[in-house]
Amino acid sequence: MKIKKIELEQVAGFKSQWPNDNLDEIAFVGRSNVGKSSFINSFSNRKALAKTSSKPGKTRTINFYRVNDSFRLVDLPGYGFANVSKAEKAKWDKLINEYLHDRENRKEVFLIVDIRHEPTALDKQMYDWIIDSGFMGFVIATKYDKIKKSQIQQHINLIKKKLEIEDEGLIFAYSSETKHNKDVLEEQVEVIIEI
Ligand code: GTP
Ligand code: MG
Repeated sequence: MKIKKIELEQVAGFKSQWPNDNLDEIAFVGRSNVGKSSFINSFSNRKALAKTSSKPGKTRTINFYRVNDSFRLVDLPGYGFANVSKAEKAKWDKLINEYLHDRENRKEVFLIVDIRHEPTALDKQMYDWIIDSGFMGFVIATKYDKIKKSQIQQHINLIKKKLEIEDEGLIFAYSSETKHNKDVLEEQVEVIIEI
């Protein structure tokens, strides 16, 4: 599945702003700064469609990207960012939770983690929710370009262990810089959308 056309269809700070139709959606969740928005850019061959930042807390709304007029990629705010007020944190958590619990269009939810770091307790909690909700449990371990090739398997094993993933086929090492594994993920997205 190649992305021929992608557009930012809706920026939603409230549930009432969600697109009102039944197009399938694939959502990306993960810690702040892990690379969710960068993933959407690189996966769709666009440099700055989704706004990214070296500082955590960039995406503060739910951003719906309409792809090939047939499905959506959904960029969510991150969780686990310490340097933010309680009120702001509560707002983001509400946005994330509402989308995950109430959005009927969501066909699959991918967890994005940083390949360099051990997943946190919040990552584990999110992953358990993904599995318990009946999703496949796909994990994108991004920033692959930032570690030595010789260390990759060790890092993948740590992610597997921490999240209790039995099937390594569910983990995709990825780099938004080099687009490593983009073709594999394109195939996976195609399968998800056509089910
Ligand atoms: P929030 O919106 O704050 O939740 O963050 P996010 O998960 O959307 O992260 P974002 O895409 O804004 O990326 C955070 C930082 O990581 C940026 O400086 C990106 O350039 C960098 N980054 C993301 N993915 C990669 C990658 O695969 N490789 C490298 N080298 N840097 C990356
Ligand atoms: Mg973002």
